[in-house]
Amino acid sequence: MSVLVCGGAGYIGSHMVRRLQAAGFEPVVLDNLSTGHRQAVAGCELVVGDLLDTIGLEQLFAEHKFESVLHFCAKSLVGESMHEPYAYYHNNVAGTLNLLAVMRSHGTGRLIFSSTAAVYGMPVSETIDENHPCEPINPYGRSKLMVEQILRDAARAHGLRSVCLRYFNAAGASDDAWIGEAHEPETHLIPNVLRATEKGAAPLSVFGNDYPTRDGTCVRDYVHVDDLADAHLAALGYLESNAGAHVFNLGNGDGFSVLEVLESAREVTGRDIPYVVAPRREGDPTTLVASSAKAREHLGWTPSRTSMQQIIGSAWRWHQAKRF
Ligand code: UFG
Repeated sequence: MSVLVCGGAGYIGSHMVRRLQAAGFEPVVLDNLSTGHRQAVAGCELVVGDLLDTIGLEQLFAEHKFESVLHFCAKSLVGESMHEPYAYYHNNVAGTLNLLAVMRSHGTGRLIFSSTAAVYGMPVSETIDENHPCEPINPYGRSKLMVEQILRDAARAHGLRSVCLRYFNAAGASDDAWIGEAHEPETHLIPNVLRATEKGAAPLSVFGNDYPTRDGTCVRDYVHVDDLADAHLAALGYLESNAGAHVFNLGNGDGFSVLEVLESAREVTGRDIPYVVAPRREGDPTTLVASSAKAREHLGWTPSRTSMQQIIGSAWRWHQAKRF
């Protein structure tokens, strides 16, 4: 089955491409390589292009008969979105609208969309399920929520079938350390923790230790990137028999503080991890922990790489392999 993976050279997209290949699909990757890596894609066609290029998209859809699209392309840095909101709305919302229009004109009726826990804003409950209020506190989260709303309208008006997957904190790397997280600049906790183990590296900045949590640092729900890929595959299957627009959280349901992540990384790497306490980072909620009961029930999703040791262990092997 031919599927288009938009953003398939990026961190989560490239793990998805390998998962699709293993399941017998023939993915085609569209990526503008702004944050993706050519080396992350192997064994399938890579089209270097942009969702904002309607003519290029038209050509791509004319050349292939795509049954489904998995859409990972996005600008995704919360802090940057506060300072460059137009770029976020343009790329994340207008780019997706282009894609949807071209999908419609070519009869491609199924979409899996990468959404985020950032659509919820400040949590009002200990764990967050899909009925939690959606009041995003930054343009990044708002741009994702806008697309979710567009997908509901598209289901009603055009019969588009879609699943929005709201990821909590994607982490880890492929078992064989062939692909993993490679951002520049890197803002995410686990890769920054691993970088801090290197000789001569700057100490990790821990952004705030005065939050109302067990040790004063923020708590997050880290979910392995290959478990995310499994959920996307299940979502594709779900759309076979379910019309409409659907939303599912993807997380493990366990919260780890920044200092707990540091401690696990110390155990996994056997290295010291120097850190300094820095001021709070703008826009960081205190705690974000998912209830993924809905995905477990309706998608039959069971994450299998749930321990912090497994997650950091895979990231560490990738970090040492340094392929790109
Ligand atoms: N942190 C540090 N030092 C660092 C990096 C991060 O202390 O060098 C802290 C952050 O302040 C936060 C926690 O580690 O408390 C996790 O930060 P990440 O940047 O790894 O992840 P976020 O929780 O900020 O972001 C993730 C996704 C976003 C998504 C967001 C939902 O990467 O795309 O969850 O709120 F929007």
